[in-house]
Amino acid sequence: MVRGVCPGSFDPVTHGHLEVISRAAALVDELIVAVGHNMAKNALFAPEERVELLEQATHAWPHVSVALFDGLLVDFCQARQVQVICKGLRGGDFDYELPMAQMNHRIGGVETIFLPTHTQWSFVSSSLVREIATLGGDVSKFVPGYVATRISSRLLKRSHEQPGTIRDL
Ligand code: PNS
Repeated sequence: MVRGVCPGSFDPVTHGHLEVISRAAALVDELIVAVGHNMAKNALFAPEERVELLEQATHAWPHVSVALFDGLLVDFCQARQVQVICKGLRGGDFDYELPMAQMNHRIGGVETIFLPTHTQWSFVSSSLVREIATLGGDVSKFVPGYVATRISSRLLKRSHEQPGTIRDL
């Protein structure tokens, strides 16, 4: 029985994430998509909303579940008996991901496997999706339809709460 985890911020989940999740799910008996908080990033969605969007996106895969985590990823792995961390790798990600994988192995004994992202999505990131959407661009090619709708309503709400901070969509 191999249990894996796909950790990330998923703010918001993209087609690139889902492609990596589907391939990771094919490698393990159970996969947990773990929504963490990246302290370096400005969040668009609350962690609970990201979980909800991911649950919609993964509901067709019975052995995939979604969970929130805070604290160390290795502690989450130990608590959930996860043996392997599965991470998508785009060009440029390696220098950021390698030390994390090495550190997670050193402090928690957890292995990491890297899945090269499909070329179709290798340029897609949540941060670019957030930026494009915030500046009024169309992100519907890069995220599931209900995620695009949720982004639009979130930004519209923000523009009413903080007029002048973003363009109306
Ligand atoms: O999608 P992201 O932003 O690359 O996700 C990063 C995340 C949340 C997976 C990463 O920041 C993480 O693992 N955070 C948990 C805290 C932790 O374990 N830090 C030590 C890493 S060696």
